[in-house]
Amino acid sequence: MPIGTIQELGCSGKTVLLRLDLNSPIDPASHLILDDKRFREHLPTIRALSDSRVVIVTHQSRPGKKDFTTLESHAEKLEHLLGKPVTYIDSIFDRHAREAVHAMKPGDVLMLENVRFSAEENLTLKPEEAKKTHLVKRLSAMADFFVNDAFGTAHRSQPTVVGLPMVMRSAAGLLMEKEVSTLSKVFSGAPRPVCMVLGGTKVDDSIEVAAHVLENGIADQVIVIGVVANVFLIAAGCDIGKPSTQLIAQLKYEPEIEKAKEILARYKDRVLMPESVAVRQNNRRVEYPISKIPHDAPVLDLGMDTLGSLKQALKKSGTVVFNGPAGVFEDADFATGTYELLRAASKVEFSVVGGGHTAAVIEKLGIEKDFTHISTGGGACIEFLTGKKLPAVEALEKSKQIFG
Ligand code: 3PG
Repeated sequence: MPIGTIQELGCSGKTVLLRLDLNSPIDPASHLILDDKRFREHLPTIRALSDSRVVIVTHQSRPGKKDFTTLESHAEKLEHLLGKPVTYIDSIFDRHAREAVHAMKPGDVLMLENVRFSAEENLTLKPEEAKKTHLVKRLSAMADFFVNDAFGTAHRSQPTVVGLPMVMRSAAGLLMEKEVSTLSKVFSGAPRPVCMVLGGTKVDDSIEVAAHVLENGIADQVIVIGVVANVFLIAAGCDIGKPSTQLIAQLKYEPEIEKAKEILARYKDRVLMPESVAVRQNNRRVEYPISKIPHDAPVLDLGMDTLGSLKQALKKSGTVVFNGPAGVFEDADFATGTYELLRAASKVEFSVVGGGHTAAVIEKLGIEKDFTHISTGGGACIEFLTGKKLPAVEALEKSKQIFG
């Protein structure tokens, strides 16, 4: 089904609500943005709207996480990259925000506060329910059109993603268009075997993906790393030590252990887990086999022993979809697993990388040109590759049907 484009909207001189995904790795103390890839990827869309009043709606992290912050630094970063003022407003839709939008002139760019500060944005709602939220009613009243460029959030059925297109004439931004068209190519004859590498901390998403791609033959093999691997290790009966077990409880991922058990019961031969890990002990990296992980040390990376066999599995693959790091790569002592696996993935014929955080590592390693596609989406990219229709895309299609 077709999706509206920016050209079709005719935004010149109009006020456009522009949903971006500027969720980025940040230093929780200083709020310094550690990677600006998502910012840079959104620039073409913002520039394409240069004679509109652009009201940016975006988020950073989610409630309960350390990096759930205000967007002042985001506006500053965008202003610097865009080369023109970006006015930051410290609220989402109160009178102050409404007056600021009202006073805008064509060419102005304004960024509203972290939209997930509104409790409604954190709900998962169907488009018909989402359109009735105060958030959607208030935001839509501020503008003429809605443009969604937030591919990274396209898998979330949240009010700004699925509700706004129900009440406003809408279009996909240029990044959204590029991601959808490039990732669609994975389905048309991606070279086999297909290997999915699932890591990082978003365990719930990764477990769902693992089950889906294994069941439907989309992936021949799944490699689990990072916190995702820790959950699978517990499911397989390993004691991963108190700090890592506590982290899983803290992230509320205990129910995922049962799901991991089910996956292992059905597809044990197609799931590769680390056989050794690196922990921090006496302030340095020490490696242990998974049967001997110390009780009081956090698991922070893969062990070298296991790295060889995982790299071997990647080497044999025609396609690698890589989503999420293998450990705490921000700490040089625990970056090896992530760095080495990414280098191995980059050599595969068809290599797709998802996740802002993983993409940041690739840039640091200077190997971005070796990959077929580096998506700005983590969960969105992976969900797309499972063949599911993304709520954001579906909502844009419906919007086109409603408003033409
Ligand atoms: C992401 O970084 O994957 C997106 O910004 C979505 O974030 P979320 O997983 O907190 O919904």
